[in-house]
Amino acid sequence: MSNRRNWLKQVGLGVVGLGLGQIETFANPIPNYFVSNPNDTRILLRSNENPYGPSPLARTAMTESINISNRYGWTQTSELITLIAKKNNVAEKNILLGAGSTEILDLALQFTALKKGTFILAETTYDYWTSPAKTLGIKKITIPLTADKRLNLTAMLKAIDSDTKMIYICNPNNPTGTICERDELVSFIQEASKKVIVLVDEAYIDFTNQQSLSNLVIENKNLIVAKTFSKMYGLAGGRIGYAVANESTIYELSQLQSWPNGSVSVVSTAGALASLKDENFKKEVYSLNEKVKKYTIEQLEHLNITCIPSHSNFIYFSLSNYKKDFFEQLEKNNIVGTKIYEEQGKWSRITVGTMQEMEMFINALR
Ligand SMILES: Cc1ncc(COP(=O)(O)O)c(C=O)c1O
Repeated sequence: MSNRRNWLKQVGLGVVGLGLGQIETFANPIPNYFVSNPNDTRILLRSNENPYGPSPLARTAMTESINISNRYGWTQTSELITLIAKKNNVAEKNILLGAGSTEILDLALQFTALKKGTFILAETTYDYWTSPAKTLGIKKITIPLTADKRLNLTAMLKAIDSDTKMIYICNPNNPTGTICERDELVSFIQEASKKVIVLVDEAYIDFTNQQSLSNLVIENKNLIVAKTFSKMYGLAGGRIGYAVANESTIYELSQLQSWPNGSVSVVSTAGALASLKDENFKKEVYSLNEKVKKYTIEQLEHLNITCIPSHSNFIYFSLSNYKKDFFEQLEKNNIVGTKIYEEQGKWSRITVGTMQEMEMFINALR
């Protein structure tokens, strides 16, 4: 048995139901096909999850942390906050943890609702988190994308009026995979944040070479950056994310949590801490994603399916010229995709899975 297999046995991964095929992904540059849940054999290309993770270091740390789950995780929480702060070039007081970045988006929405008014976001962007807006009494204003499916920052800026309290920027944008030029985004934030809160969602920033905006919060009390361990770090089911913001803004957001930083388990905290230390995993996932994404886009274009260049781990494409029933083809092949986001042009999205998964996806469409 290889050292790696011995190591896996030692860390007891059998307990959490991970197969060896899955683990050996990290021994080989090209992963073997695997599904993370032995009871669910569907190919899940719907939620932009990481098909390779959690990282080996995170798996070990999480397994070990089960034994200390009888205790509250104050020590681990502060250790994690210190490491997150360091990675983001800010101080501990600029960080607030949540159960996924969804909790952070929620808090930002509640915070905005206290001030009454409206918030601006793109049409089409990630907007599941906005469903409480109506109940909270704040109105959503949507601004169309540009023709090439990018956020229209100029139009978003122009749309600010005396009722506007917040602007949401998803960068890279979900579902389109487009990215804002950093300089343009920084100027936009400088202008917009004079009047309103700018909430920047960097869920997919690790799949790009663009530098995070997180350290701008030191000088800007109206900027909130939301980050997650769900995507690059493969901890979607672990539910852990965080806000980076100015000290005073973090304080305001934390007042909306009954236990500030308290919604994250010891197990997820251990996973997040270990993930941040596993640079190899991050590099490997980055390059696998680039390679598989390139293959998928090329194959989709051969099938006459137009794709938007993607800066993320998913691809946005038009089914206008595709003659078969796309969703039926997926269903017949046990593949789960998402939906049509824009009726005009029949735009849909697919997550970049493993190479084997994407070969199956392409074969299903042929
Ligand atoms: C842009 C964006 N933000 C936030 C989230 C929420 O992620 P989580 O709550 O798992 O951190 C997602 C999930 O798909 C997303 O696509």
